[in-house]
Amino acid sequence: MHFFETRHLTKAFGGLVAVNDVTFQVEEGEIYGLIGPNGSGKTTVFNCITGYYPITSGAVLFKGKELNSLQTWKICKEGIGRTFQIVKPLRRMTVLENVMTAAFCRTSNAHEARDKAIEVLNFCEMGKKIDYPAKGLTIGDRKRMEIARALATDPKLLLLDETMAGLTPQEQSDGVELIRKVRDSGTTIIIVEHIMQVIMNLCDRLLCINYGTEIAKGTPAEVANNQDVIEAYLGKE
Ligand SMILES: Nc1ncnc2c1ncn2[C@@H]1O[C@H](COP(=O)(O)OP(=O)(O)OP(=O)(O)O)[C@@H](O)[C@H]1O
Ligand SMILES: [Mg+2]
Repeated sequence: MHFFETRHLTKAFGGLVAVNDVTFQVEEGEIYGLIGPNGSGKTTVFNCITGYYPITSGAVLFKGKELNSLQTWKICKEGIGRTFQIVKPLRRMTVLENVMTAAFCRTSNAHEARDKAIEVLNFCEMGKKIDYPAKGLTIGDRKRMEIARALATDPKLLLLDETMAGLTPQEQSDGVELIRKVRDSGTTIIIVEHIMQVIMNLCDRLLCINYGTEIAKGTPAEVANNQDVIEAYLGKE
């Protein structure tokens, strides 16, 4: 049994097949990369895994259990957390309150939710910013708070959708450190990212898709040297 897998995952929006027959497996403790050019279907894969979109056909299995028909909040309770590519903080709330809302996934007690949120914010090195209003955060801190919100749900599998986009080089390398720390604390990760340096640095294995279809799978070096991958990103010339 694999820790996580998709089998022939397919998602069509009318005539547009955004994800087409995608099969991959992730083992516990891995950092698994999902890459592909803009519009290739990466976020749609995450939306299908987390029940945000109903899948057209195929299956999503977590620890051997099929998740296909579950609602988003039930999938979260099963232990799959995610970040969103377009972060939408609760702008009028503080950083702490934003993370507390996620912690209520596991408790209905406000003190426990607060303790969990503080623990996670300290882990993400945002402990000094817990009282900041979310609307005033820099993009770097907004992305970090998005990771903290996902972690507050206590995921065993965390899906990260472009958490490094728009960050400075220093913020990116801090982000890489944070993601490693998350993995080392016992959370398996699937990461979508365009910044190749980040992907090559972090991932144990990769899947590359184009037009919703697998074009390569393997170690970062294998995928980066694959001719179809190079053409998908750079064109035939
Ligand atoms: N809700 C939707 N309705 C219709 N089409 C959609 C919907 N969501 C995504 N698509 C289409 O599915 C395709 C894949 O989009 P998706 O957002 O998954 O790509 P992506 O790989 O995440 O791209 P990017 O790297 O730009 O974030 C695109 O053609 C997109 O326009
Ligand atoms: Mg996307």
